[in-house]
Amino acid sequence: MLMLMVVVIVMLSLGLTIFKPKNPDISIHPTGLERFQVIGGSNANMTMGMMITITNRNYASFEYRNSTSNVKFRDTVIAQVPIVAGIAPARTTVTVKTSAEFMIGELLRDPNFWTGISNGTLNLQSSSVMPGIARMFNVFKLKATTYSDCHIAFDLLTKAANSTCVSRIKF
Ligand SMILES: *[C@@H]1O[C@H](CO)[C@@H](O)[C@H](O)[C@H]1NC(C)=O
Ligand SMILES: *[C@@H]1O[C@H](CO)[C@@H](O)[C@H](O)[C@H]1NC(C)=O
Ligand SMILES: *[C@@H]1O[C@H](CO)[C@@H](O)[C@H](O)[C@H]1NC(C)=O
Ligand SMILES: *[C@@H]1O[C@H](CO)[C@@H](O)[C@H](O)[C@H]1NC(C)=O
Repeated sequence: MLMLMVVVIVMLSLGLTIFKPKNPDISIHPTGLERFQVIGGSNANMTMGMMITITNRNYASFEYRNSTSNVKFRDTVIAQVPIVAGIAPARTTVTVKTSAEFMIGELLRDPNFWTGISNGTLNLQSSSVMPGIARMFNVFKLKATTYSDCHIAFDLLTKAANSTCVSRIKF
């Protein structure tokens, strides 16, 4: 009887700690910002490297499919960031390199752009939906989707960018 109780308690705490899904930490950093400039015609585009860091704190690996993340200035999509399918193994951090074409022309056309950068900071929002599969011990397999919303502050003078993201995983 006592043995059974111990087993039940161990199973319960395992269930609550190991199997409890933890939200991933995802951050997105533009690279090569030193080349950023807001010149060019109304169709000007600029390719910028992007680094996406995914920290999977779960005991399950997360296998994600191809997806696209949108970067917005207010309500205007100014870049689409392709994320090529990959795996974020259990309890590790992976870094994914990609690049995005920034539609500078769209930014320049936005009447809020000039007032928005008047204090030297360009504030952007990114949102990604990464559908995939969570896999544990090669036994359990579950459909999962990771959502991530980031706020990216880009200092136009120092060309440094900060991002703060909120991510969650849903099964
Ligand atoms: C910039 O990108 C947009 C969307 O991808 C495209 O429609 C447009 O033709 C591009 N402009 C140039 C100059 O490449
Ligand atoms: C995912 O994207 C890569 C690179 O663009 C492509 O080669 C591959 O075929 C895509 N896979 C699927 C399943 O669409
Ligand atoms: C610049 O203005 C924006 C919007 O008003 C604000 O969110 C941001 O914190 C400001 N940045 C600085 C460096 O003052
Ligand atoms: C980024 O964060 C650091 C420290 O939190 C701050 O000193 C810096 O001004 C921020 N830069 C931007 C562009 O918001």
